[in-house]
Amino acid sequence: MYADRITSLPPYLFAAIDRAKENAIKNGVDVIDLGVGDPDMPTPPHIIDALHRSAQNPERHRYPSYTGMLSFREAASGWYKKTFNVSLDPASEVLALIGSKEGLAHIPLAFLNPGDIALVPDPAYPVYKIGTIFAGGVPHIMPLSAENGFLPDLDAIPDDVAGRARLIFLNYPNNPTAAVADPSFFREVVDFAHEHDIIVVHDNPYSEMTFDGYRAPSLLSTPGAMEVGIEMHSLSKTYNMTGWRIGFALGNAEILSGLGKIKTNIDSGAFEAVQEAGITALTGPQDCIADMRRVYTKRRALLLRGLHALGIDAAAPKATFYVWAPVPDGYTSISFADELLDKRGIVATPGVGFGEYGEGYVRFSMTSSTDRIQEAVERMHEL
Ligand code: MLT
Repeated sequence: MYADRITSLPPYLFAAIDRAKENAIKNGVDVIDLGVGDPDMPTPPHIIDALHRSAQNPERHRYPSYTGMLSFREAASGWYKKTFNVSLDPASEVLALIGSKEGLAHIPLAFLNPGDIALVPDPAYPVYKIGTIFAGGVPHIMPLSAENGFLPDLDAIPDDVAGRARLIFLNYPNNPTAAVADPSFFREVVDFAHEHDIIVVHDNPYSEMTFDGYRAPSLLSTPGAMEVGIEMHSLSKTYNMTGWRIGFALGNAEILSGLGKIKTNIDSGAFEAVQEAGITALTGPQDCIADMRRVYTKRRALLLRGLHALGIDAAAPKATFYVWAPVPDGYTSISFADELLDKRGIVATPGVGFGEYGEGYVRFSMTSSTDRIQEAVERMHEL
């Protein structure tokens, strides 16, 4: 009944985890969900008020423009200037997305012919690899390991593979490992992309979720990056807006135009009232970001104290709301995640769900309330 491209796919990671969680709830378990990275904190009220106002305006009820409202793209470019000191032309160097997942899934359709290679990190957000496969492309895996600080080793990519590659996907601050990249790594990536004529797609939704004074760089700050790359950003994590489905891509105009061509044929843009709420998020008061950092800093300390007391040697993330923890001896990532759910009612994501090089780890997302994280830590001690 189904096309080959979906019969060979494993179930989408977080859909499978949702099912396991629902089963546990059905069986009466009081589940603490540290699985999907979906902020528990509400969208700030001034953003919700902006949606209310905008949704009353009949002008906003019609089809949106394909590239996004110019005012939204101006807000996104203004935010990039303020945040990263990167100047972008809102008319040609910014494209609105229905969440960055949408852009990530569609970009391979614009640039991969069947058999072309996309360089994909592992472990990683599953969409890079699946989007490549949907486009008929071939993912070439770049393993991320603790020894390399969870950065890909570009020198290890064989020349013939680099020669056939059209895209490279990257994501720092990183999901799931919480690793960060410094500007010298981006410099190396941009040189590599120029040398092999490869498009860099940098997925950057966690840039604002940083701790201890660390600030995450943008790929687009790297000299030469605008010639070879784009960055995707999302309002999901920065402003607790996962359900609103709004994000944007920025960078090289020709690359964005390729993505835009795919999008015009597939979707009709993001609801304009949501774009206007997005403008309020990007241009309004930003203290919600500082508040969010404070909350995650507290949760991080709690969770790490608990894991360390259990003998699990997890590092303190400098960014993201994830803790990437090695599983205790004698477990695989799946058997440890199963045990956490079956015996303690805690949902964590098995590392292998992000790819084979995620084996040996589980990911805890700090997106349940601080009290629930405290309780999860107490429950883990009873393991
Ligand atoms: C995750 O948990 O990895 C992310 O929240 C998934 C997403 O951003 O779609």
